[in-house]
Amino acid sequence: MLKISELKTEYRQNPIGLDVAKPRFSWILKSDRNDTVQCSYSIIVKGADGIVWDSGKVENSQSVLSVYSGLMLKPRTRYNVTVAVHDNHGESAAAEGWFETGLMSCDNRKASWITHGYEDKVEACPVYVREFDLSGKVKAARVYASALGVYELEMNGRKAGDAFLAPGWTSYHTRVQYQTYDITDMMGETNQVVITSANGWFAGEFGFAGGVSHYGSRTAVWAQIEIDYEDGHTDTIVTDSGWQYGSGPRRYAEIYHGEVIDHNIPVKIEGNAIAFDYPISVLTAQESESVRITERLKPAARMITPKGEVVYDFGQNLTGIIEARLNCPKGTKVVLGHAEVLDKEGNFYTENLRSARAEDTFICAGEGEETFLPAFTFHGFRYIRVEGLSDKREEDCFTACVLHTDMEAAGHFQCSNEAVNRLQQNIRWGQRGNFLDIPTDCPQRDERLGWTGDAQVFASTAAYNYNTALFFTKWLRDLKAEQTLEHGVPHVIPNILSNIEGAAAWSDAAAIIPWEMYQAYGDIRLLADQYDSMRDWVEYIRSKAGESHLWQTGHQYADWLALDNEPASRVGATDPYLVATAYYAYSTDLTARAAKVLGKTEDAALYAKLHDDIVSAFRKEYITETGRMVSETQTGCVLALHFDLAKPEHRERIFQSLTVNLANHNNHLTTGFVGTPYLCHVLSNNGSHETAGTVFLKHDYPSWLYCVDMGATTIWERWDSMKKDGSFDESGMNSFNHYAYGSVGSWMYQKLGGLQIEEPGYKKSRIAPVPIKGITCAEASVRTVYGELSCKWECTDHRMTVDIVVPCNTTATVCLPGKEEFLVGSGSYHYEYQTELELEYERYSMESTLGEILDNPVAMEILRQHAPGIADNPMIQFALEQSISQLTALMPEGSAQLFAMVIKTCNDAEKTN
Ligand code: BGC
Repeated sequence: MLKISELKTEYRQNPIGLDVAKPRFSWILKSDRNDTVQCSYSIIVKGADGIVWDSGKVENSQSVLSVYSGLMLKPRTRYNVTVAVHDNHGESAAAEGWFETGLMSCDNRKASWITHGYEDKVEACPVYVREFDLSGKVKAARVYASALGVYELEMNGRKAGDAFLAPGWTSYHTRVQYQTYDITDMMGETNQVVITSANGWFAGEFGFAGGVSHYGSRTAVWAQIEIDYEDGHTDTIVTDSGWQYGSGPRRYAEIYHGEVIDHNIPVKIEGNAIAFDYPISVLTAQESESVRITERLKPAARMITPKGEVVYDFGQNLTGIIEARLNCPKGTKVVLGHAEVLDKEGNFYTENLRSARAEDTFICAGEGEETFLPAFTFHGFRYIRVEGLSDKREEDCFTACVLHTDMEAAGHFQCSNEAVNRLQQNIRWGQRGNFLDIPTDCPQRDERLGWTGDAQVFASTAAYNYNTALFFTKWLRDLKAEQTLEHGVPHVIPNILSNIEGAAAWSDAAAIIPWEMYQAYGDIRLLADQYDSMRDWVEYIRSKAGESHLWQTGHQYADWLALDNEPASRVGATDPYLVATAYYAYSTDLTARAAKVLGKTEDAALYAKLHDDIVSAFRKEYITETGRMVSETQTGCVLALHFDLAKPEHRERIFQSLTVNLANHNNHLTTGFVGTPYLCHVLSNNGSHETAGTVFLKHDYPSWLYCVDMGATTIWERWDSMKKDGSFDESGMNSFNHYAYGSVGSWMYQKLGGLQIEEPGYKKSRIAPVPIKGITCAEASVRTVYGELSCKWECTDHRMTVDIVVPCNTTATVCLPGKEEFLVGSGSYHYEYQTELELEYERYSMESTLGEILDNPVAMEILRQHAPGIADNPMIQFALEQSISQLTALMPEGSAQLFAMVIKTCNDAEKTN
């Protein structure tokens, strides 16, 4: 049987407040028969006055992002959508949904911006109030609202909608989102609407360089209430000087510093609101999903630290706010501090937050149980420190509310290795914590900016875990709005840093992310809308590189935080201008490809030629005539191979350099933000998948699993954010929730899980799991725009079983280990066969370092017995870094047997664990 399991308009089910002139419809087909392909579809869209679009029978298989092409849509109107389809088995199905337009054009925005009569720098959050009566029986009521700042709207004492930190952060000079709320069920005979606002990103303290009021020193709000009555008439209530302003219980709110809520202070009206001069043309309907509370966590533990502080542990580093339910005497003041980690003594540690105070204060009115929930701040934390409560246990008082853009969950990855599963969880939590309206670098310190480089390296992984189409659509529009031909693309979007010139790998987000989104969702409109931005970014670099085709000027972050520079610095050892030219080539290539997809043939040829020129220049400058990289770092080699910059005959040698470099580091990575995302891909794609597996499964520093073993619950900014002894990187830049190194996620999904995109949007996928030693089974799934794609495999006793699911209306190339590839249509398939594969692995080998082995308590014990004094040996530091095979070569006879015994015992202990 064929059915349509889901019908969406612009990626959303039954959205309200949509301001898209030609919305697109997508549906997911489900069938119990294999090889199902849609043969035809028809779409009918009806408004109140009848049909506005009948697509007729369209004979093709398009089921994703089919563009509306009927009559012009009216504002504030509900449209019903019916989709009917036929498939190749002669079956048919239909589904209904609807969407409701927003205000659409400026003509329908009747409200004006209003502000308060306080000084600019008022601390208490301004409140705006308006009362009104109804003039009939309500059919439907909507509020369209926004703020220059952040706001919350209450109708008759209840919060409208469930969004936090609306209207979100955009390039406010040119774009401010407005939200639409359905308030039909909140109306009474007489009504009171209250809007509370705070500085937020608009006027608050923001940016690591300090500074307030990046967009303006005064906040303002804007709202239009439209009440449609059963009898056909409408009341419109708009923000104007008829509203009153004052302040209430929210006494202070800054995103970095937290909020003060005093329940003893009721709303006090001061006078009439004042008209505020700001264009309403900047308003645009909400473009991505809202920031919402998506999960609530109770504390996992309560403790008194050595310093005597009361600390609660939520067991997970997260981004959000604490809800407190307090039952305390009047005037009780409870202060909550937020921290990501405890220091090695077990004390609450906030040094890494730098100037962000991250502190919420709740003052009780003493009238039974009172609920406090900050609205205009967020914190990155796992622990809270509680001051001001009597020392009785208060476990039930506190709930951590997880906040982020409420994207649809898309992917799942799990395997037989628990440490890897935790890593996957950490990657997801990193994304949740940092996809808070914009892609931030971190959620805790005085930064939380839309760093382009971080977003760029993580975009592919992000699209596996969650549906990021709308999230990036919105942010890329801001990127485009902030970009200039003269300065390129700023390093943070929205930009609040002073005008600095574009930098490689960071500003390249302009070209890379639209391409990644096009791949993941097949969204041509997004690609078309961003095309000028892609091209202009390339043109900016061209203006710097000129005829040389080498980008060798300006400030570069290069392989940020790589470990290979001496003396250690934030910029790794890879030549920054090699990185810059490599990315110049990559962005130019993507622009050429985008031009081709969009039918811009001239541009396609122009940028393909430019790409060839850049590649030739790169070869001349950075690869010797005999095929040796000038910067023989891991990242240098990775970029040359991944971006296909070397002559075919030189690839082998560059790959050799990479593997030798890795071997010299005992198969540890030394890469930073730029090399890390591609390292495992390059190893796997060039015949060393096994080495990729070894690097990936390393437990000792530096590695992904080192952080897991150290108790990380999110991805860290640095490979050594926390050192082995529990101390921290104290350089002034250390976050425990930075997602860049989580970019290995795309390799996990693509190689271990086997899910790859062959045609944009997964219209055709490639299912090609490639196991590694140490993982005996894995399962991955992605909710693609066509439906669920999944692959689950297990290999035990040389028997391989694989189960795959291919969504309707798509096909997949299947390439199973040791088998010839073949093509399948939609459906579920099971395969089972004998294989030579040997996936059992021993965690410790002669190639392990002594340091790695001594981390295992069992090993330490044996060595103490057989080689007493080893830990005090002055050579120990040197020895710790050597592999066992190197050590046995240096040490007197007998050590080989001793170490072999140690390794065996450690591996046996591992198996019984
Ligand atoms: C951020 C990074 C960012 C970098 C630029 C840092 O302060 O936290 O993640 O990309 O600056 O190099």
